Amino acid sequence: MCGIVGYVGPRPSEGILLSGLARLEYRGYDSAGIAVIDADGTLGMRKRAGKLSVLRDDLDRAPLADGTTGIGHTRWATHGGPTDQNAHPHLADGGKLAVIHNGIIENFAALKAELVAGGAEFLSETDTEVAAVLLAREYHAHGDDLEAAFRATVRRLEGAFTLLALHEEHPGLVVGARRNSPLVIGLGEGENFLGSDVAAFVEHTRHALAIGQDQIVAITPEGVRVTDFDGAEVGVEPFEVTWDAAAAEKGGWSSFMAKEVSEEPDAVANTIRGRFHDDAVAIPELEGMDAVFAGIHRIIVVACGTASYAGQVGKYALEQWSRVPVDVELAHEFRYRDPVLDSSTLVVSISQSGETMDTLMAVKYARERGAATLSICNTQGATIPRESDAVVYTHAGPEVAVASTKAFVAQITALYLLALHIGRVRGALSAQDSARAVAELEAVPGKIQWILDNEQERTAHLARWMADTRSVLFLGRHVGFPIALEGALKLKEISYIHAEGFAAGELKHGPIALIEPGQPVFVIVPSPVHSAMLHDKVVSNIQEIRARGARVIVIAEEGDAAVLPFADEVLHIPLAGPAFEPLLAVVPLHIFAMGLAEAKGLDVDQPRNLAKSVTVE
Ligand code: F6R
Repeated sequence: MCGIVGYVGPRPSEGILLSGLARLEYRGYDSAGIAVIDADGTLGMRKRAGKLSVLRDDLDRAPLADGTTGIGHTRWATHGGPTDQNAHPHLADGGKLAVIHNGIIENFAALKAELVAGGAEFLSETDTEVAAVLLAREYHAHGDDLEAAFRATVRRLEGAFTLLALHEEHPGLVVGARRNSPLVIGLGEGENFLGSDVAAFVEHTRHALAIGQDQIVAITPEGVRVTDFDGAEVGVEPFEVTWDAAAAEKGGWSSFMAKEVSEEPDAVANTIRGRFHDDAVAIPELEGMDAVFAGIHRIIVVACGTASYAGQVGKYALEQWSRVPVDVELAHEFRYRDPVLDSSTLVVSISQSGETMDTLMAVKYARERGAATLSICNTQGATIPRESDAVVYTHAGPEVAVASTKAFVAQITALYLLALHIGRVRGALSAQDSARAVAELEAVPGKIQWILDNEQERTAHLARWMADTRSVLFLGRHVGFPIALEGALKLKEISYIHAEGFAAGELKHGPIALIEPGQPVFVIVPSPVHSAMLHDKVVSNIQEIRARGARVIVIAEEGDAAVLPFADEVLHIPLAGPAFEPLLAVVPLHIFAMGLAEAKGLDVDQPRNLAKSVTVE
């Protein structure tokens, strides 16, 4: 939450900061601001409530003086509502010092009381301004040494934070710090960048450095210095960004979400590419983990939101192919219930951003208690993979729309690869069964493309037709259950209507009371291939709700004639079989949610109250 960008170099910084913020706006979009040290060495600052476009318009009307050192921020409010005053940057030291922040400073009230007692005054309700005022005090206490003052300041802060600061007496210097919140460095020629993630600077450089926990960075045009909070220099890991700026552009699509749904086939294809050898899974990143896989007695998957539904789908594959018992837990519930963990437990975290605070805390907790940790992540250089023993990257490419789509199918794909690999390592899966599963997985991208080519328009039409619907229910069974949950979440998230996902078998235990004439219900029909029993049970469920007046929209594999008599609408997906159906069945649900939100005239990429990367607990 909150996007942060910093720049030092020879070029005017305003445009660089604004285009960096545009790429980070998915992280928060309730206010935005920049601070720039101009050529005369004066700090100029502008911040406005509302989306970045409000700030841009303001700067177009009354530009700041040009300067080549600057910081920028796009906010997702925590302390204090989304007002001009609470927007970042926050100034101190008579307007000479500017600070931006992502995270929550948990001891801000005590610090504020201390500063107020010393005569300080505050203009905003934010915890960030407390850090700014504290930094100004330390600046004078440390003989106007910005870096020393910054170190002294961050040592006093508790909680999670990425902080950037500049002072007009130090043009050409931006200092930053991170604790449990993201910050990466971009290395240019005679210029350097800081960003919440690489999107902030990828149009200028793909050379990046990942900063570790509790580290401080100082960037100047000439170089980068990274230290710990006490000032001791530390080594940092370089990495190359594998995608270019064009990958994070809309490229003619009506929304990022539309583009990202269209990329679902590629997300699966790129996640499996280079990970098969002789019909068997071979994941180079997992070299060295086989002894762990051979010795585990249990797998716990931790994640939040859509990523947790990917985990629920993955559970079926992990148990089926590796025969290791699997629990899937919401990261925030797992972390605070004193779970039983030891070295025979593998904790698999799933996170598109790699920065979700709840998931990060769960991983750290598991590690501290001796469990092996493995992360499935879509973002290079992110914190969660860095805190884990091993990582399997999903190669979905940058996901910008707040609602996760292509990352979801990539996460399931990575879990399937992992399940096949662990199954082979433990001798639970035959080479023949593994080869068969590999072949089926390789066929998935083409099948998703078939849905996009053949069912997208009809699904979008259905969504437009249902634009006034007030409530939609989703039913699924077995691997279809998490898909029902995902369908409901996506609809709530971007179209703001009531939606619930249920296990079809649970229907008679309560939810069926919700059915009244005309109630739309999506039913994910299990594959008729190899699972006739499950399939027939869901067909019975359909009849039960239809008898009570529900309007039934089924998602069924092609050729599944048994459901046709009982469905008001059928959205077809190619034949897939039970294991692979979720990767297909979710696609019409993504299209439907997007179509309905568009029909309501809503911003599908930036739904209200949300942010892409949830970096506070
Ligand atoms: C829903 C959605 C969220 C995320 C969740 C975890 O569309 O995007 O539910 O899935 O916040 O985010 P990551 O995967 O970044 O940890």
